[in-house]
Amino acid sequence: MGQTATLAINGKSVELPIVVGSEKEVGVDIAQLRAKMGAITLDDGYGNTGACASAVTFIDGEKGILRYRGYPIEDLAEKSNFIESAYLLIFGELPTSPQLAEFKQHLTDYQFIHEDLQHALAGFPPNAPPMAILSAMINAAGCFESDLLESHDDKNIGEMAARIMSRVRTIAAASFKKHLGRPIIYPRSDMSYTANFLHMMFSKPYENYEPDPEIVRAVDQLFILHADHEQNCSTSTVRMVGSAKANLWASVAAGVCALWGPLHGGANMEVIDMLKRIHEGDDTAQSFIAKVKDKNAHAKLMGFGHRVYKNFDPRAQIIKKACDRVLGKLGIKDPLLEIAKKLEEAALHDSYFVERKLYPNVDFYSGIIMRALGIPTDMFTVMFAIGRIPGWIAHWREVNVNPHGRINRPRQIYTGPTLRPYAPIEKRG
Ligand code: ACO
Repeated sequence: MGQTATLAINGKSVELPIVVGSEKEVGVDIAQLRAKMGAITLDDGYGNTGACASAVTFIDGEKGILRYRGYPIEDLAEKSNFIESAYLLIFGELPTSPQLAEFKQHLTDYQFIHEDLQHALAGFPPNAPPMAILSAMINAAGCFESDLLESHDDKNIGEMAARIMSRVRTIAAASFKKHLGRPIIYPRSDMSYTANFLHMMFSKPYENYEPDPEIVRAVDQLFILHADHEQNCSTSTVRMVGSAKANLWASVAAGVCALWGPLHGGANMEVIDMLKRIHEGDDTAQSFIAKVKDKNAHAKLMGFGHRVYKNFDPRAQIIKKACDRVLGKLGIKDPLLEIAKKLEEAALHDSYFVERKLYPNVDFYSGIIMRALGIPTDMFTVMFAIGRIPGWIAHWREVNVNPHGRINRPRQIYTGPTLRPYAPIEKRG
């Protein structure tokens, strides 16, 4: 018998198995706790709950480590590209040349969305939030995939992944054009995934945008850095929805909705709003930091802090360097970058942030790069979503192929009223 943990409640005890991960992480398996002790665990916000065993991504938040399938994020960001990293996440191994070529071909084959989807797009008001459009359009696009929509056969996962990844990119760019009231630009078969996205975003009819390879590389790197982050809010949502045997499109659309929240992917928009307010003179870096520390002000330093990282977020470090590179290449001097650096400097030397181990997260600098590329603020979270799609697919797949998988259904500690008799309306109040 392996290691166990002993839990005692009111003089009665139970031995609980210990599960050790490949990086020596220790978990206490409480699956039998309720059956044997009549008790459950309570962990509001899941800060201490391992919801599953997963082989996709490893994070050590204390050491600032992030690895996809064992490969350090720094290596992937420098040496890989988004499609190769996506393949790695979904299939577990880096692709061989023929495997990569086949996957790329699938992406090209599925880059068009059905023309009828343009009617769905046209129905949104011009100021519709792009994340609302994206989630709705993913489900709408699923309706045109009747051959695979309800497939749970793992042999189809490559084709399903390619359809979603490729079409999400086309939908995202189309929603941007819709927002501008401009004609939608069709994808090109002669371009890489990321260059093709930039083409659909920035080309105009009869006026092709030819993206600079360095800019393509910067966006590609952003996608790699956002591609997975183990059991975060949106990925847990995808797994939760997938556990009900919901199809991949529905599960990914649910992930988009979770990512939309300002405490999650929506933080990249909030960071820019915060930096703009400081720039416009409403606050200085110092006065904003003071406000954040005042609990009555209910303000947060957006782009700072993380549930898992209690040390630097390795993605933020890579993005900060890329930010200097991209702005230098484009010859842009963005005052928001200076403000961001000042805020970081002030926070890293402030006991409030030091004691709480709050460091810049992935969202702190990413918006400044996207702004420099001409991507409007309300598209930032959509950019995050495009990057995160492969991670969501990898996790949905893990749930889908798990032979011991059960529907995810947490329990609760009920704190409402106890049994009471129904009162007729005339006797209430
Ligand atoms: N600014 C000021 N104080 C903060 C911040 C922040 N950004 N983040 C956490 N704190 C404080 C909390 O108020 C709390 O203080 P207390 O102990 O005095 O009550 C302490 O640090 C611990 O914070 P928690 O709220 O327990 O951290 P939690 O793990 O629940 O939340 C989160 C993590 C949501 C990321 C939080 O740090 C936050 O809101 N950050 C700003 C939003 C943001 O950047 N989100 C993007 C995260 S990355 C991603 O999802 C892609």
